[in-house]
Amino acid sequence: MKVSPSLLAADFAHLSTEIDMINASSADYLHLDVMDGVFVPNISFGFPVLRAVGNICRKPLDVHLMIVEPEKWISQVKAIGAEIMNVHVEATTHLHSTVLQIHEAGMKAGVTLNPATPVSSLVDIIEDVELVLLMSVNPGFGGQKLIRHTLDKVRELRRLIDMSGSKAMIEIDGGVNEKTGEELAEAGADILVAGSYVFGAPDPHSRIDILKSLS
Ligand code: DX5
Ligand code: ZN
Repeated sequence: MKVSPSLLAADFAHLSTEIDMINASSADYLHLDVMDGVFVPNISFGFPVLRAVGNICRKPLDVHLMIVEPEKWISQVKAIGAEIMNVHVEATTHLHSTVLQIHEAGMKAGVTLNPATPVSSLVDIIEDVELVLLMSVNPGFGGQKLIRHTLDKVRELRRLIDMSGSKAMIEIDGGVNEKTGEELAEAGADILVAGSYVFGAPDPHSRIDILKSLS
């Protein structure tokens, strides 16, 4: 299993210590949650913070934009050195064009679905993306409980990917811990995002290792 710890649950007063911890860990990515207070009812951090993080983080950056019109920010996301740019299908009108622009900028394109957005909405884009990020909670806040229906969505998405010949990876975001992580792995997830489960623990490295060991 690949693991993408979410910085949202980190201690923002000691960001460099938190990034050092991630650099020294077995994490595969660092997940960065950008919120605008419009698409989601919360505001997290913006580009000045992302730039600072990008300067010291040695893990590939997995940027999750919970903002309206994410296509306006593609060059700025690229400038921080992001490997993956995730946009919500509910937040961009011309999704195909946005995916093309993300590729032209030299990043992997991830498309993200809110809990009530069906997997079937991906039928005409699945072959063009490197990743699908399924929200297993309503976006905006860490520390929520996984919505159980996500497990059915993971299985449905796995079938869609296999049928279409797409190479997209399946990433899950929200309410991940060792128990839900095991169920998500069995359903077909490739990457688990984990915020509070990792950063809220006395030994975050062992939490990352536990999720890494799931298959
Ligand atoms: C929620 C964010 C998540 C969040 C997950 O809107 O997209 O990445 O940090 O937090 P946990 O793992 O605590 O549910
Ligand atoms: Zn996220």
